[in-house]
Amino acid sequence: MKLWEGRFTAPMSKDADAFNESLSFDQKLYRADITASVAHATMLGKCGIISPAESETICKGLESILADVDNGALSVEGAEDVHSFVESELVKRIGETGKKLHTARSRNDQVATDMRLYARASADRAIQLLKALIETLLSLAKEHVKHVMPGFTHLRKAQPINCAQYFNAYSEMFLRDTERFAQLRERMNVMPLGSAALAGTSYPVNREITRELLGFGDVSQNSLDAVSDRDFVAEYLFAASLVMAHLSRLCEDTILYTSEEFGYWVIPDEYSTGSSIMPQKKNPDLPELVRGKTGRVYGHLVSILTTIKGLPLAYNKDLQEDKEPFFDTEATLFSCVNIYTALLQKIKLNVNAMYEAAGGGYATATDVADYLAKHGVPFRDAHAVTGKIVRYCIETEKTLPALTLREFQMHSAVFEADVLEAVTTRASAEGRNSVGGSSTEAARRGIQAIKKRLKKY
Ligand code: ARG
Repeated sequence: MKLWEGRFTAPMSKDADAFNESLSFDQKLYRADITASVAHATMLGKCGIISPAESETICKGLESILADVDNGALSVEGAEDVHSFVESELVKRIGETGKKLHTARSRNDQVATDMRLYARASADRAIQLLKALIETLLSLAKEHVKHVMPGFTHLRKAQPINCAQYFNAYSEMFLRDTERFAQLRERMNVMPLGSAALAGTSYPVNREITRELLGFGDVSQNSLDAVSDRDFVAEYLFAASLVMAHLSRLCEDTILYTSEEFGYWVIPDEYSTGSSIMPQKKNPDLPELVRGKTGRVYGHLVSILTTIKGLPLAYNKDLQEDKEPFFDTEATLFSCVNIYTALLQKIKLNVNAMYEAAGGGYATATDVADYLAKHGVPFRDAHAVTGKIVRYCIETEKTLPALTLREFQMHSAVFEADVLEAVTTRASAEGRNSVGGSSTEAARRGIQAIKKRLKKY
């Protein structure tokens, strides 16, 4: 049976019905739908739109449906969408009174409310999962605050960096993501219920009562906007896309750093895979999968942006297409953040190999130039002199720390004995004590700053 069949002379054809239905995916909204319906029925009773006894009967009926779906006694099937399902089940359970639930509302404000309730809870969960990920990065940072690794630009060795500084960089990204979810949660926390189909309602509703019951921060101020706005879905998908972008970068680092060529990190066996033909292989399938799933989440973002573009006011059935991208994004996001948190907890760092590698590629050349500049040589000239020293190293197959003072002085009389210390990997990293820099002290301050900001969530 359809909620709207009164006007029709023929039932919907089977194929049209199958094409139109959303229950197969919007059943995920059953809890939000029932919660919002209980609030609506309570408000109808309090405002005298239905009697208090009717309101109570409806609420009890709805609660029994929720309990039965929760415990598996009732399966969500056999209706056009979750709203029709709940209403027809209610009428089955409490009879005629159930038909009064849909007074002063439409499925349009109902679904907009359900989606906001669902997305709000989902944003809260995203924040908690990101927090766990950041805490894992923080403990890696703490463990490795005294360790030095190569820092890259253009994937070429650039300057030695601190391992904690490296992990803190990702914490900063995920902290911004956390903040984004918190901000969009606030923006979406506005209640559309009471907008009805599009024009508002002539019943003496009290939207403040429903708002309070559902914990919304505010009620929507324009009924046309309220039933047709899906900005909040797009914002969620954008925030999720950025998390995936950040995770994907971390995946790429993981894949590189655990390769035979780099050998900086080791992924534990429990989070690695093998090859069906090459017995020696230990593959980074999990980081590759997370990197791969990023494209899928971006696709969902483009999908919702395209769906909402060009829709005439107000509600259009196109908006039903907000759900599958949302649900798939949520599931993908949560599983990716979870698996990466688990993987990082088990990752091992080859600290000696990383230190060794940090000294390669003339990575302390900037320190030589800085040495000269600090002794009065204009930086541009210092850069040129250092370039020549690097060329000398290449020609004589020497590293910068292996040069003697005489060899430095061959290129400039400004060099004194302390240059030999300045070009070591450790001195290079420790020398950069600026806020956010590579010294142990700066990395420690970075950890403290992240911890402090994380406390908010
Ligand atoms: N399944 C619909 C959706 O997700 C529910 C709202 C239906 N409203 C309507 N006017 N047909 O958007």
